[in-house]
Amino acid sequence: MKVILLGTAAGGGFPQWNCACALCVRAHRGELPARSQESVAVSGDGRDWWLLNASPDIRTQLLAAPALTPGPGPRDTPVRGVLLTDAEVDHALGLTVLRGGADLTVHAAPPVRDALTTGLPLRGLLDRYAPWEWRDSTVAGGFALSGGLTVTAHPVSAKAPKYVADPDPGVPWVVAYRIEDPATGGVLLYAPCLAVWPDGFDDLLASASCALLDGTFFSADELGSAVRTADAGQPLMGHLPVDGPGGSLTRLARHRRPRRIYTHLNNTNPLLDPGSAATETMRGAGAEVLPDGAELIV
Ligand code: MLT
Ligand code: MN
Ligand code: ZN
Repeated sequence: MKVILLGTAAGGGFPQWNCACALCVRAHRGELPARSQESVAVSGDGRDWWLLNASPDIRTQLLAAPALTPGPGPRDTPVRGVLLTDAEVDHALGLTVLRGGADLTVHAAPPVRDALTTGLPLRGLLDRYAPWEWRDSTVAGGFALSGGLTVTAHPVSAKAPKYVADPDPGVPWVVAYRIEDPATGGVLLYAPCLAVWPDGFDDLLASASCALLDGTFFSADELGSAVRTADAGQPLMGHLPVDGPGGSLTRLARHRRPRRIYTHLNNTNPLLDPGSAATETMRGAGAEVLPDGAELIV
């Protein structure tokens, strides 16, 4: 399958519009590569493409990817729809950019679909532009995507978006997707939002050829030390750090097989700097960070 990393930054992008932290200042100066908010495109046949999350930057991201160019008919597009991992603003707001697109299908878990009907009421709005099909991505046995891919969704976290009032802590708000190309055996595990190392995640990783993983924060104290916000000192906003004893890098060390790529990088993350000690640590452990627009064959 073909995979394009359309954007690789967490909510707000890099640099973030209202941030003058050391890393954002270097990105403003052009010393570090800017990154748009996290979204991915996948295709089994190179003709039918599916978006994994739809960031507010999706217009620029689609225009920058030659494979996603519209045509041959005046309103034809290779984009067939969107798979949402969660209902976060940075993953869902791009749906409004796609409004009016013909015959799109959105796959989302029921709590995500409900949040986009009430707390962030995009569904009603989008229905007035074009009749999209909304499907439950957690359907038993998984589902098929045009172009030859098969998908299963796996609940990974109860992290609800900030805009949801009094979220039920028992609700699986976030899923990871396991996307398989039966023609080649390639398996992409897409998990850009991990609060903890989920039960069963090791088995998923063992069956994957490539994993795109939550790289929001490198270390557990990063948010507190980089910027002073109301979140300083609080748990890391539902994102498992890369480094440290319980971090994802240590958990990944048990696995030899999948190519492992961090995405959804927050603007405080030293992995944004290819010359940082954090980047050296990550590379030493066999993981990668790739630029926006990177194309992979999985
Ligand atoms: C997150 O991934 O934690 C959220 O997208 C944060 C945000 O709302 O920007
Ligand atoms: Mn996010
Ligand atoms: Zn910043």
